[in-house]
This record gives sequence, structure tokens and C-alpha cells, in this order.
Amino acid sequence: MISFHSFIRIFANRMDTQLHFAPLQGYTDFEYRKIHARHCGGVDTYYTPFIRWEKGGIRDKDIKDVLPENNEGVHLVPQIICSDTDEFNRLADAVQELGYGEMDLNMGCPAPMQTKLMRGSGILPHPIRVQALLKEMERRPEVHFSAKMRLGLDSKEEWRELTDILNSSSLKHLTIHPRIGKQMYKGEVDMEAFLEVYNAIRVPIIYNGDVTSMEQVSSLSERLPNLLGIMMGRGLLARPTLARECIQKKEMSTGERTEILMQMHEDMLDYCTRKYKVDSQILMHIHAFWEYQESQMERKIWKKIMKAGNMKNYLEAIRKL
Ligand SMILES: Cc1cc2nc3c(=O)[nH]c(=O)nc-3n(C[C@H](O)[C@H](O)[C@H](O)COP(=O)(O)O)c2cc1C
Repeated sequence: MISFHSFIRIFANRMDTQLHFAPLQGYTDFEYRKIHARHCGGVDTYYTPFIRWEKGGIRDKDIKDVLPENNEGVHLVPQIICSDTDEFNRLADAVQELGYGEMDLNMGCPAPMQTKLMRGSGILPHPIRVQALLKEMERRPEVHFSAKMRLGLDSKEEWRELTDILNSSSLKHLTIHPRIGKQMYKGEVDMEAFLEVYNAIRVPIIYNGDVTSMEQVSSLSERLPNLLGIMMGRGLLARPTLARECIQKKEMSTGERTEILMQMHEDMLDYCTRKYKVDSQILMHIHAFWEYQESQMERKIWKKIMKAGNMKNYLEAIRKL
């Protein structure tokens, strides 16, 4: 197996690759996306965390997250998760009614709650279901559909069965996260398998998985000239300026990055304080903002932020940054 780190070598900078912000349920909600776009930029496309059909409808929370008035100034693609054409049509109708002309199909979620319903990566061992969904997309030619998938649910060979189906689809692009569902987020991404997909699938490919630095972005785009884009999730949560730094081809200093982070934090804290009345709720929400940033600051400070049980201690910890 080729590891991610051995695959990545430093190449000359070539940055015409699109940068997409991965959907992360519980982290990249509309307020975070807007704040990120306002202060950092550099991202071509943001996605909503997956929208699902549950108990006869779509959760209010998910509707609020996708409402155009909550997403002004952001290129947003709503993401749906489903296992059959019935669910697909209900979700697609709702999203289209809101005025969206793009939609992403989640075929990667590894959570057992979804995979046991043959949703997310749980649909990958069922080529007939995948084919039915992709065919159903063709009945909405006015919508640009994309999909995001893993290599398989239980085996990294499952994608092979989908090759012809994907190649004859109308998908605008396909994001590949080269892990299998049962790995969740553990273990290394499999670059050898990714290269096989990249060479076999004729739909424009976006790479996703474990990208955390400018060097990785530029070497991926240099090594894979046909790559449409790179999608980053946790790497951007950790270093929100990363996409902007890639576009500008210049690393920001710690001081510059901290200044932007503090501006983002001010907006986020303001939003949380308006939305939640109780300190414990404010803290729970604002902790998500910092959760993936452990590698970016002194561990002692990060721990103080994450452990703060009241506002006074929290604000004291923030001032140490
Ligand atoms: C907490 C969490 C929530 C996620 N939610 C979604 C989701 O709603 N839709 C989706 O397609 N992927 C979701 N993912 C997967 C990410 O979009 C991405 O594929 C994964 O984190 C690998 O990319 P990264 O290493 O750049 O973070 C989630 C991942 C995490 C860790």
C-alpha cells in the first residue's frame, strides 16, 4: 500500500486545482461556513452536512442550514443521503424548491446508523441501488449532481463493480475518500487504490482525505494533472486559512493566522451568545470551533480552552492565545 506521506513529495507550485470545504456534521454549519468565507476565503465550494429523510420529513435544523438566506455570499452545494429513488426524490424536490441547481449525493458516510439503512457507504455494496439513484438524477437535467464516496463499505474492491455505472452517469464530479466505511476515520488513506479509481473513472475526480498542508495540496495537484479539485475537512477546521494560503501560494505567519482566527472567534462567540442563553450551551457550541485546532497552538492553552467549564475561565484561556 502506498501511504499518503510517501505519495506526497514537494513539487513546484501549481494551483489551478479547486479547493472544496468538506461537509462535517456538527462543525460546518451555516454560521461556521459564512464566518469562514468572510474571514478566510480561498474555498470554491462549501457543502452542507448530509440532509436525510427521517420520521416522514426533513429535520427543521437541516432546512435552516440550507436556507439561501442563511448562506448568502457562499457557494453552497446541499448534500443529501438516501438509499432509494423514493427518498432521493423527496430530498431533491425539497432542495430544488429552495432554488438550488447543484446537489451532492453522500455515498461515504461510515456511521452504522446510516450504513445499516444502505445509506452513505452502506449503499456501495449494492450497485443496483447506486445505478437507480444515478439514473434518477437524469430526470432532473437542470440540476448538476455530484457524489462523494469511499472505496467501499467492507472492502476496498467494492468500487470496481461501480465503474461502468459511474462512467455512464451524468455526475459533474466525484469526490473520493480512499478509505472504506468500516475504517471510519482510522488507518491511512489508501493512495494506491485512489490512483486506480482516478485512472478508471471518467467523471472529474476530487481527492479527499487527510490533507493538512500547503505542500500536500501543491504536490497532489502537481502529481495528478487531471484532478478537478481537493476537498479538505479537518485540515481546514484546524487551520482555517489553509485554502487562502494555497491560493496565495504563501504561508501566513503565526501572528497573521492568529489575528484571523480571533476575528472568526469573535463572530462565532457573538452568534453563540445570541443563539444560546445558557453558558453551558454556549461553551458546548464554541468548543466545536476549537476542537480540531490542538496541533495549531500550545497544548496547554488548547486544553484550558476545551476544559473551561464557565465563561470566565473560557475567556481567560482565549486571552492567552
Ligand atoms: C465529525 C465529522 C462529520 C462528518 N460529516 C460528514 C457529512 O455530513 N457528509 C459527508 O459527506 N462527510 C462527512 N464527514 C466526512 C468528511 O467530509 C471527510 O470526508 C473526512 O473527514 C475526510 O476528510 P479530511 O481528512 O479532510 O477531514 C464527516 C467527518 C467527520 C469527522
